[in-house]
Amino acid sequence: MTFQTGVTRSLEARYYTDSDIFLKEKKGLLTKTWQFAGHQSQVENTGDFFTFEIAGENLFCIKDKSGDIRVYYNVCQHRAHELVQGKGNCKIIVCPYHAWSYELEGGLRNGPNINSVPGFERGDICLNEVRAELFHGFIFVNLDEDARPMDDWFPGAREEILDFVPHIQALKPLEWVEVPENCNWKVSIENYSECYHCALNHPTFAKGVIDPSTYDIQPQGGYCLRHTTLCQNLDAMTYEIDLESNKHAGDYSSWFLWPMFSFQVYPGNILNTYHWRVVDVDKVVVWRGWYSFDGAEDKVVRQLAIQDCQTTVAEDIRLVESVQRGMGSRGYNPGPLVVDPACGVNSEHSIKVLQQWMREGLETRGET
Ligand code: FES
Ligand SMILES: [Fe+2]
Repeated sequence: MTFQTGVTRSLEARYYTDSDIFLKEKKGLLTKTWQFAGHQSQVENTGDFFTFEIAGENLFCIKDKSGDIRVYYNVCQHRAHELVQGKGNCKIIVCPYHAWSYELEGGLRNGPNINSVPGFERGDICLNEVRAELFHGFIFVNLDEDARPMDDWFPGAREEILDFVPHIQALKPLEWVEVPENCNWKVSIENYSECYHCALNHPTFAKGVIDPSTYDIQPQGGYCLRHTTLCQNLDAMTYEIDLESNKHAGDYSSWFLWPMFSFQVYPGNILNTYHWRVVDVDKVVVWRGWYSFDGAEDKVVRQLAIQDCQTTVAEDIRLVESVQRGMGSRGYNPGPLVVDPACGVNSEHSIKVLQQWMREGLETRGET
């Protein structure tokens, strides 16, 4: 892709500090985009469920009797009590308030004394279901029932990821690392989406995992930002890889799926993920996911998870929290982005694209 020349300024600070803007994003953008819910291994058996929150909505994911994974709003259709807590397994869903019960497929099954009500139509009542999609075993939801499918949002990503991680369906989470950051979610996402800061701030990653000179990030179709680079010289790598094992064994790549998820593949075809959960205008939680065959102990993956946490993650926390403090300074005027027409590691063309999505995102209206 070529980028127009001319200076583009970074987004104004209010995008990162204004509570009204945050609320608009929460009620608009976050209700109209694909958000990560969890992994299929969390609902392996019929009736397995887990709760989670998207855009301030309490939801739960459950496996029904035919093996389909469904997602519902976690609210009883009687008088609004929450239906389930945390995670667990149930044969039917029973509300703890007055014991109305629901089938795993969502229909009302029964309730004490409901038959005494003339004209009560049990068939009219069912749980409110949310759009869900499986993406290589990763469960995504979209609160917009008219949302276009993920393959329209992120064309080609599904096939490309499979090419890098052919064993992806056999993977299960080995470790999820929770990383609270005191910054607006967009500060964290922007930091993830450029490597202009890598050489100075991520010595282990830049010298022991990837070769920064080949790093680039390009938008590809829809709303995906694709990172690509080669691995570091094998003798400088912090872990061993076998270049013969797969055609992409020597590559690093990631697919950032706007607005809050990224599939990332480290050299050696090692899958890891990022997902972000907003908390407040100046608080976000980043989750790093690490995966292994069947979730079994894996020394290399475990070592990488620890290395990542102690280096890249810790280094990034300091950066994003400092930026958030700076956003609140009266002395800050948004500076020009370094958009190099030739792109490459020292260019912020990806931030230009991202900030365009962020501007558009603010115009997204949710249901009222
Ligand atoms: S609110 Fe659920 S049974 Fe009354
Ligand atoms: Fe970083």
